[in-house]
Amino acid sequence: MTEATIKVRESGPYLVKGPLKLIDADGNAYAAAGQDVALCRCGGSATKPFCDGSHRRNGFHAAERAPAAG
Ligand code: FES
Repeated sequence: MTEATIKVRESGPYLVKGPLKLIDADGNAYAAAGQDVALCRCGGSATKPFCDGSHRRNGFHAAERAPAAG
């Protein structure tokens, strides 16, 4: 099985790539399961858990980086 990856976009969504299953709080799968998805992390999307581009208009800013490997 290929490993899924999650890329943290600067001031944007989490881009999830790879084989995945996205389920809601009740355990039901979203139709996008198995596809690459962009998950909202700004809280402003009208289509949560998916990004709808609202982060570009709502002033969301997040530029954190992973700590350097020692
Ligand atoms: S991260 Fe894109 S709408 Fe929230």
